[in-house]
Amino acid sequence: MTRPTVYITSPLPDAAMRIIASACDYRQWTEDRPVPRDILLRDIATVDGVLARLMDRVDAEFLDAAPGLRVVSNCAVGYDNINVPLLTERGVLACNTPGVLTETTADLAWALIMAAGRRIVEGQETIRQGRWNSSNLMFMTGQDIHGATLGLVGPGRIGSAVIRRAKGFDMNVLYHSRSRHAELEAETGAQYRALDDLLRESDFVVVLVPLSDATRGLFGAREFALMKDSAVFVNVSRGPVVNEMALYEALKQGRPWAAGLDVFEKEPIGPDHPLLTLPNVVAVPHIGSASVQTRTKMATLAATNLVAALTGQPVPAPINPAVLG
Ligand code: DGY
Repeated sequence: MTRPTVYITSPLPDAAMRIIASACDYRQWTEDRPVPRDILLRDIATVDGVLARLMDRVDAEFLDAAPGLRVVSNCAVGYDNINVPLLTERGVLACNTPGVLTETTADLAWALIMAAGRRIVEGQETIRQGRWNSSNLMFMTGQDIHGATLGLVGPGRIGSAVIRRAKGFDMNVLYHSRSRHAELEAETGAQYRALDDLLRESDFVVVLVPLSDATRGLFGAREFALMKDSAVFVNVSRGPVVNEMALYEALKQGRPWAAGLDVFEKEPIGPDHPLLTLPNVVAVPHIGSASVQTRTKMATLAATNLVAALTGQPVPAPINPAVLG
């Protein structure tokens, strides 16, 4: 039997490479920057499978460039970079990496809650720049996390893990989603709210909705105006869920009070991004799932999905399993 040929759009940990090399011939983009589109389209011309990342747009142009393609294995749980209905139409399997990054991403959401709420980054800058010179009792005061109200928008796997952690801080938890989650309510005591009510009542608003037509631009000037002037806004989902200029204006006016951001409308953002001029913004470069352990697990799951799909084994995490028949 001939070995399948695959294209890998970025460097991967050895454990994942071993899985792929054991069953496939491969070509790989090994530079530390996204593969340029023209090279990608050229190099996938004869492949059976692609191991992709969020920055690789898998659309009609991509599929046209790879007529023999049978599987796209995304090394991420989100797959807003992939036109899944189109892949399904063309009989191409799409896979993702659910489960393995849940807890790590929830940890990062908490890092941002705490860093933005307690001005950790601003505090460090104050020391580094020799500005720790105030004896004012209210110097560098932040917002209490313990006992506060957490408002979680989008309590899927990761959102639920964020909510479970809130218990340790004696928080009151509200959530909003398209439907009620009876089990989550029973397990954590979280209470459902309409979005506007959640925004009015929460001290910490954490966003974990997937990006879709329904969630694009979900947070704009109107939503920020509903928040408390002491509220902290945290986005760990996808940048386009937020109107960034509206957030910038709102933060400048002090409502919300601060923001913790892992994701941006256009990534990577540059150092001249307006949000970075604000002291009440904590920004990190889309590192929600970025622990050594979890990124290794994501890569090995993505590699396993890829190889399984091409060798007739059960695929651990298909997005459009109908393609498998
Ligand atoms: C995901 O897997 O969707 C994350 O955003 C990647 O870090």
